[in-house]
Amino acid sequence: MTAAAQFTRVPHPAPLAAQRRQEVLAQPGFGRHFTDHMVSIDYAGGTWTNARVEPYGPLALDPATMVFHYGQAIFEGLKAYRQGDGSVSCFRIDANAARFRRSARRMAMAELPDELFIESVRQLLEVDRDWVPAAGGEESLYLRPFMFATEAGLGVKPAAAYKYLLLGSPAGAYFPRGVKPVRVWLSTEYVRAAPGGTGEAKVAGNYAASLLAQAEASAKGCDQVVWLDACERRYVEEMGTNNLFFVFGSGSEARLVTPELSGSLLPGITRDSLLTLAADSGFPVEERKISVEEWRKGAESGEITEVFACGTAAVITPVGWVRSGDGEFTIGGGEPGVVTMALRDTLTGIQRGTFADKHGWMRPM
Ligand code: PLP
Ligand code: COI
Repeated sequence: MTAAAQFTRVPHPAPLAAQRRQEVLAQPGFGRHFTDHMVSIDYAGGTWTNARVEPYGPLALDPATMVFHYGQAIFEGLKAYRQGDGSVSCFRIDANAARFRRSARRMAMAELPDELFIESVRQLLEVDRDWVPAAGGEESLYLRPFMFATEAGLGVKPAAAYKYLLLGSPAGAYFPRGVKPVRVWLSTEYVRAAPGGTGEAKVAGNYAASLLAQAEASAKGCDQVVWLDACERRYVEEMGTNNLFFVFGSGSEARLVTPELSGSLLPGITRDSLLTLAADSGFPVEERKISVEEWRKGAESGEITEVFACGTAAVITPVGWVRSGDGEFTIGGGEPGVVTMALRDTLTGIQRGTFADKHGWMRPM
């Protein structure tokens, strides 16, 4: 099947009333509300088939469906932004399509062609365009493409059948306190991913494996867990659902460091974009290992002036405090930093069409 192939459209018999939708869009939260429709594409007999735009609703699955037993499940996260002229654009959708394919390959799943991934988003936006929040604010339509094994059976092997689904969910701030700095917990007991594992793929199981440590972080009074490398428990990898950046120095002397792609952390599209935007702004940027010890000493001496987390859902969030079994230290007095906020303004400006899109990242949908 090609992207040009027909998607069957089954309109929702009773879409949410416009007034109720406006109430949802005024305060969407994150991941709590879904648009009227979803997209579904099946993989069977070696081909992609049965592409549909249909009412959002429950699925009926055989209890022996392989995803429930052996966990072949991957997902993506990207956003559609309302532009000042009323049109709708996605940010770097081709990068999400490519990462979705890489995740599929790592999980021995069928690879959805990029054109179908992009066309599925276009199809959903065509019917649910009114669900994209108004321009000018922090809100957007979060898009959640995902795929799982649908073959029924208990043999352990790559499934022969898959379902791809796409949901739309209006989104405001991911962290309830918005751009206020978060407090993070350094996880030394649990690890997220080990070399050779699935850490660099966007795999559902990575998130399941993270939940106990995230609960531990909450119990310690922290907003998020920060993962260290699995072997030495010494080098910083990433935060719960974000990559991390460290700002050394300030003003014209500022330079940025982000953990190198170790194979066990997610290669974030926001991370990749910020490496480019920081370089555009004249900041030296470095991808390398950074240890907890360097972080603590740098924060205490004032050499590390800012730390921030970045990801599609959470955009850019300052990190103000770091807690571990050894105590707590503060970064930049627990206030959002200048470099953090400047990069945030540039990134969100490009996404909302108020800054020039020099790198051709926005795609009108
Ligand atoms: N790391 C993890 C574990 C994530 O879940 C995410 C979110 O997608 C990120 C990093 C940031 O990735 P991206 O910028 O592509 O959203
Ligand atoms: C995203 O930013 O898209 C993420 O993956 C975060 C999500 C797990 C809530």
